[in-house]
Formats: sequence, C-alpha cells, structure tokens
Amino acid sequence: MTNVAFLKSMAKRGEKIAMLTCYDATFAKLMEAAGVDVLLVGDSLGMVMQGKSSTLEVTMEDMEYHTRSVSNGVTRTMIITDMPFGSYENDLDVALKNARRLMAAGAHMVKLEGGGPMVDTARYLVENDIPVCAHLGFTPQSVNKLGGYRIQGKTEESARQILDDARRMGEAGVDFVLLEMVPAALAKQITDSIGTPTIGIGAGTDCNGQVLVLQDLLGIYTGPADKDPHEFKSPRFVRNFLEHAGNIQQAVSNYVKAVKEGSFPSSEHCY
Ligand code: KIV
Repeated sequence: MTNVAFLKSMAKRGEKIAMLTCYDATFAKLMEAAGVDVLLVGDSLGMVMQGKSSTLEVTMEDMEYHTRSVSNGVTRTMIITDMPFGSYENDLDVALKNARRLMAAGAHMVKLEGGGPMVDTARYLVENDIPVCAHLGFTPQSVNKLGGYRIQGKTEESARQILDDARRMGEAGVDFVLLEMVPAALAKQITDSIGTPTIGIGAGTDCNGQVLVLQDLLGIYTGPADKDPHEFKSPRFVRNFLEHAGNIQQAVSNYVKAVKEGSFPSSEHCY
C-alpha cells in the first residue's frame, strides 16, 4: 500500500509523484495498473461527472459515494478526497466530523482549499489524526470571489501571501501542498523552501508531483452540459494524452511516464 511516508521519500529522492483525479472503480483499477501514485477524488466531479458549471454544489454524500467507488477499485493506491464547499470552513468540529466521514468512506487523506483561517482547520484535523493536503493558488471553491478561472500569485503581494500560506500549512502539519495555476517561479520557490512536498496543476515543472483531471488528460471535457462544447477551450496546463496513445490504459501510462521523466509539464503548459 502506497502511504504518505513512501510518497514523501519519493519526493526526497527526486522521484516525481503522479496523481490523477478519479471518480469510479473501473478507472481506479486502470490507474492503479498504470502506476498512478495517488488518486484524487476531486470535487471537480461536480463539473466533469455532474455537468455543473462549478464545484460549489457538490455535497458530502457525493464525495462519500465516489470515494467508496474509487476505494472499491484499488488495493494499494493512496486516495485523497476533497472536502466539498461548506463542509469545513466555519466550525472545527464540523470539519473534523466531515473529514472522518470521508476517511470512513475510504479516503486516506482529505484536501481542503485556501490559506488564512484554513491553517487552523488543517492543524485541528492533523491533531486529530486526519492526514491533510492543502490546496492553494487558484482554489475552485472560491471562483466567485476570485472573479473566474484566473492565475493567482502574479503580484508581489499575492505571491508573498501564497508562499506564507504554504509555509504555515506545512508548519500546521499538512502532508502535501497542492498548487493550482500559479507562476512556475513561485511554485519553485515554495517547493524549494517549505519542506513539504508540493503537487502542481498549472504550477510549472518544479513541484514534487503533478495532478491532472482525468477527463482533461483524455481530451474529453468540453465544459458543463448546458454549454456549447465548441466554445470550450482547455486550460493552458492541459495535455491530451489520448491523442497519440491509442487506448485509455496507454494514455494513463504515458502520463505517469511523462511526469516521472519530467517531460510533462513542459514550458508550454506553464505560466
Ligand atoms: O477537484 C479537483 O479535481 C482538484 C484538482 C483540480 C486539483 O482539486
């Protein structure tokens, strides 16, 4: 069974961690066979599985259901599950109760979005034996506050804030810091300085690992169900691995290989 200590030792010896989102047992089994190190039951399922235009409507019950499904498909691969919007922000004990529900459904770690006051939430969960991944930079649950899908940390002040949040999250005891849509130089600075492994998505080449949304990797996500697919443009950090692979198993294997050998992401996927 892949565990946190093993993944941290990989990061220490410079082996990249390959993570992918996963929402069901069939893909979980396929990803395990392809050598994916960590499966993320992301609340992106609200968009890619449910056709919503954001992650905000995803419920605890949705996350439990998909975590159970993914858990049924693997025997040795670590599962991280997102805490959905509204399940952890206001009350430490509610956050702990909900994190325990996700762990009982099969998660080995929970992920929560945001810095600032969420540092105390992360610390409280860690003190109560819940492994935590902090998600900083562009945080999809705050899409309305952030004014859309925008790169974060471009100004000196916002970059300093993200670096400070990452450092404080590390001190609070989180096991991973996931960085989404931040300049590559900032992600490198964070990775080099906080002592906690980083996982990037649109965060350059220097993070300790990479994550992609499965449907993006396969080139099949064309926006929410009610929107014209022809108007949808994939984010810059996405690469379609199915295009030259022939089948899905090979596409996922190629992703793992590209992450491990450092050929994905390349400069064209970075900000
Ligand atoms: O929900 C999700 O899929 C995520 C990734 C974008 C990292 O959080």
